[in-house]
Amino acid sequence: MANRWKNDLSEMAVTPEHIYMNRRQWIAGAAAGLGLAGMGGAARAEGDALEPNDWDDITSYNNYYEFGTGKDDPARYADRLTTQPWTVTIDGMVDRPADFAFEDIMAKMTIEERLYRFRCVEAWSMVVPWNGFELADLLNMAGVQSGAKYVAFETALRPDEMPGVQFPVLDWPYVEGLRLDEAMHPLTIMATGIYGRDIPNQNGAPLRLVVPWKYGFKSIKSIVRITLTDEEPPTSWNKANPREYGFYSNVNPTVDHPRWSQATERQIGGGLFAPRIPTQMFNGYEAEVASLYDGMDLTKNF
Ligand code: MTE
Repeated sequence: MANRWKNDLSEMAVTPEHIYMNRRQWIAGAAAGLGLAGMGGAARAEGDALEPNDWDDITSYNNYYEFGTGKDDPARYADRLTTQPWTVTIDGMVDRPADFAFEDIMAKMTIEERLYRFRCVEAWSMVVPWNGFELADLLNMAGVQSGAKYVAFETALRPDEMPGVQFPVLDWPYVEGLRLDEAMHPLTIMATGIYGRDIPNQNGAPLRLVVPWKYGFKSIKSIVRITLTDEEPPTSWNKANPREYGFYSNVNPTVDHPRWSQATERQIGGGLFAPRIPTQMFNGYEAEVASLYDGMDLTKNF
């Protein structure tokens, strides 16, 4: 596995034009996906061009506590996870509840490239070139019923394959949730790849959520169940420590974590002496998502 990735990377390193062209496509793809020519431009207006982190950073510095709490544990142990076959159950308030084979989902979805900032609640960040599809397309496939207000997500729980779940760090399985309008937003994707390759297990294979304006822990990995509901669903980190982790968890430099500042972030891959950079409201996606929270007190609904 590790060797295959290394080969992939060196193969890319000798074709810089190819990488450059893909970068342009990611940016264009993200803008086109939103139907907003200026999307991303808002974030980049501050002279803040999105340069993707390299494959090694993205796949060796991970949080996936089912495989251990160390940053390198997922890269070490996540290859134990069997990702084929894979079934995603979509149930609750949908017209067509069903168990969907991963291949059948992929056959129906349009895979796009999205270059997104990724900001962890621990105050580090990366820029990741994801491949995936809009969550809205998947939910529409199942047919969301009119009373549905929230979407709940659940990660696989496999004690035989996940060495970390023997420790009660979290109440397993890992669960997350979004309000329906957040889930249907065009920036919200299910990622199935990185750099045009299948997403590695440590990053949440075979499919994981990516919500770029929220702290990374909302982006739940290796999803096996998606449930439409009319009640706010429980979420793992909120259950573990409700004072520190709210349901919304929108990136917000003005609302500090009780134990550290969220005003700045450390860029992974920037080197030991790289200066921290200012954290942006909604992680730089304010123009696209701020209206979702009109009239809400973001210090209370943190
Ligand atoms: N999903 C599951 N199932 N288990 C986890 O421990 N960690 C979260 C999130 N999704 C986590 C998870 C956290 S804290 C972060 S920051 C991101 O995954 C990390 O994603 P990455 O490893 O792809 O950077």
